[in-house]
Amino acid sequence: MAAVKISDNIYWVGAVDFEIREFHGYETPHGTTYNAYLILDEKITLIDTVKSSFSDVLLKNISEIIDPSKIDYVISNHVEPDHSGSLMEILAIAPNASLYTTPLGEKGLRAYYHQDWNFKIVKTNDTINTGQYTFEVIQTPMVHWPDNMMVYLKEKEMLFSNDAFGQHYASNERHDYEVGESLVLERAKDYYANIVLPYGAQVLKAFKDLDGKNLSLICPSHGLVLKTTINTILAKYSDWANNKVNDNEAVIVYDTMWGATKGMAHEIAKDFESKGIHTQVYYLKETHISEVMGALMEAKYICVGSSTLNKQMLPNVAAFLTYMKGLAPKNRTGLAFGSYGWGGESIKYVNETLESCKFEMMDPIKKIYMT
Ligand code: FEO
Repeated sequence: MAAVKISDNIYWVGAVDFEIREFHGYETPHGTTYNAYLILDEKITLIDTVKSSFSDVLLKNISEIIDPSKIDYVISNHVEPDHSGSLMEILAIAPNASLYTTPLGEKGLRAYYHQDWNFKIVKTNDTINTGQYTFEVIQTPMVHWPDNMMVYLKEKEMLFSNDAFGQHYASNERHDYEVGESLVLERAKDYYANIVLPYGAQVLKAFKDLDGKNLSLICPSHGLVLKTTINTILAKYSDWANNKVNDNEAVIVYDTMWGATKGMAHEIAKDFESKGIHTQVYYLKETHISEVMGALMEAKYICVGSSTLNKQMLPNVAAFLTYMKGLAPKNRTGLAFGSYGWGGESIKYVNETLESCKFEMMDPIKKIYMT
């Protein structure tokens, strides 16, 4: 995809990855984008780069606008290789460019690339002046890595938010208003559930640092540039960061050997439905754990079922529980259930794991040879 002008003197010059289906454990059925932004000012500035396999796309897009050797400043908001992966190529072409990053950003970039680049270390409240524009630095540690920062372009009220407010969504559109709010929210929710969820406290801290700043555009490092959905996304991030859940929503997740635990899952679903609670049921042999995480983002009830195999829970259930526990949803009510032939240990282990997530627990449901 070619460069896209998103404001006077500001261009999206990133890459669209239509084919990626796995992003460090997170399934990405809709692909993603690696967003980089070029700012034309007295000092020509590039904000972030793209995954290394797309370096040629980044260079082509920049070259449509300016000679890449003319880049004066590179602002690296985050060291993870989907954003820093083309620094080697950019800084080989523009070797005198200043590279702005946080202290931990410098440490990470040196560890990844072993280069003595022209590092300029910045912290919250520092500014980067490019001529007519001023970028205010806002460090956002653990949203979602220790090194993360955002930059706020004061004169245009634009926030370059890096991973925050991102969506794993590949398309030829670059703006939220081109695809509609419901799609943007769905992709943003999946992204938050699988990447940002453990860091609610840090998201709320970042919100405090953004307090009082008008936002006309949010330019994240993945997915669509946000304009018409800004207020909705900010409200949703606040809800998600506070683990606000819907008391009328339940998610049931299970794996089954011969179908008995599946039968229990659907009986439990009917019970919820009879109480007016909207319920979704997921079979872990057919639904990836990252899709389940998106589905349970706003659900009060999380019910997990497993048959017993060799005195353990089924491996798909263990994988799901490990993944969910790491992402640390809070303020939930849990239920363990399952059928068994003779031991029934799986129900105990599922129950213990849900308890260890600090969920309020319902009494487990354990049935022998339910058919
Ligand atoms: Fe999009 Fe933390 O990388």
